[in-house]
Amino acid sequence: MKDMIILGIETSCDETAAALVSDGTKILSSTVFSQIRAHRPFGGVVPEIASRKHIEALVPALDDAFEKAGLGFDDIDAIAVTMGPGLIGSLLAGFSFAKACAFSRGLPWIGVNHLEGHVNSVFLEPAPPPFPFVALLASGGHTTLYHATSHTRMEIMGQTRDDAAGEAYDKVSGMLGLGYPGGKVIDDLAAAGEPGNLSFPRAWLDKNAFDFSFSGLKTAVKRHIEAAGALSEKEIRDIAAEFQAAAVDVLACKLIRAAEKKDCRHIAVVGGVAANQGLGARVRKDADAAGMTVHIPSPGLCGDNAAMIASAGHWRLMEKGPENISPGLGADVFSKIPPLL
Ligand code: KG4
Ligand code: ZN
Repeated sequence: MKDMIILGIETSCDETAAALVSDGTKILSSTVFSQIRAHRPFGGVVPEIASRKHIEALVPALDDAFEKAGLGFDDIDAIAVTMGPGLIGSLLAGFSFAKACAFSRGLPWIGVNHLEGHVNSVFLEPAPPPFPFVALLASGGHTTLYHATSHTRMEIMGQTRDDAAGEAYDKVSGMLGLGYPGGKVIDDLAAAGEPGNLSFPRAWLDKNAFDFSFSGLKTAVKRHIEAAGALSEKEIRDIAAEFQAAAVDVLACKLIRAAEKKDCRHIAVVGGVAANQGLGARVRKDADAAGMTVHIPSPGLCGDNAAMIASAGHWRLMEKGPENISPGLGADVFSKIPPLL
């Protein structure tokens, strides 16, 4: 049987992405146009700028994905597009574009939950986990533990009560004058610093619960920086190292405990923060001790991309069928974001 080829479109935040994926697992091409340079001067993503940039970049991103794969509209079977969660204007840009392409070409389209996309990113790597598995999704907007029993069925076991993990990285980076986004720069500094020279709090909350909180850690770092005055390079490295140790401690421990609670031997870490070297090393060590297998996508698939949306769209199409091809595009589409249960 011919492979099913899905075009994925992703515009939920500040990446304009298009990708072609075969059978939900093989990436034929993946294009990600980052808007970071446009947002950097503002220290974060400016929604209005993001929407405009998506409108400019969608056609070039699509052309690039088709060109790299040597394919065109006639070769694809369906279009998958992120319906949310995300910035409303950004979502609308990608969603209107994808739906117009589907309508004009008579192709089925599939609305994809961005978070379901991140969890399905592990299926784009060799040797993906079998179901069920427990996934930690840590990104700039979310920090959530899922018990995934199929590509489209994911029970939320816990989530952050305040800041997302990536958001905490970005804010600490801002406090240290290291710019936006801050995850990678803090990660690199942490590797050269010494954790334990300082002591920042770990928010365990209820020991049996799987929720997270990062605002106390962020405030502790802020107070320390304010009290310290001018910081030497070594002090900055040590702050990064202890901040990262505190964040990683809680993320890794709760992930392992969640898998133990579900009697699950397979775990995954997905989302932008999954690219963190310290987190990856710690999760692998703890999982090894607990006899669990670990699945972390390569860095290009941790951050936002359209291949994960095409993959999630493939499985959703297999399990639930396409959405209707209707030209109507009212605000009600966003109340239809596919649930994660
Ligand atoms: O998944 P993603 O690209 O976008 C969202 O859906 O939010 O995640 C972006 C987040 C940013 O907060 C960024 O600072 C963080 O992921 N991030 C990292 C690393 N690389 C990116 N955080 C920690 N360590 C990293 N190496
Ligand atoms: Zn994301």
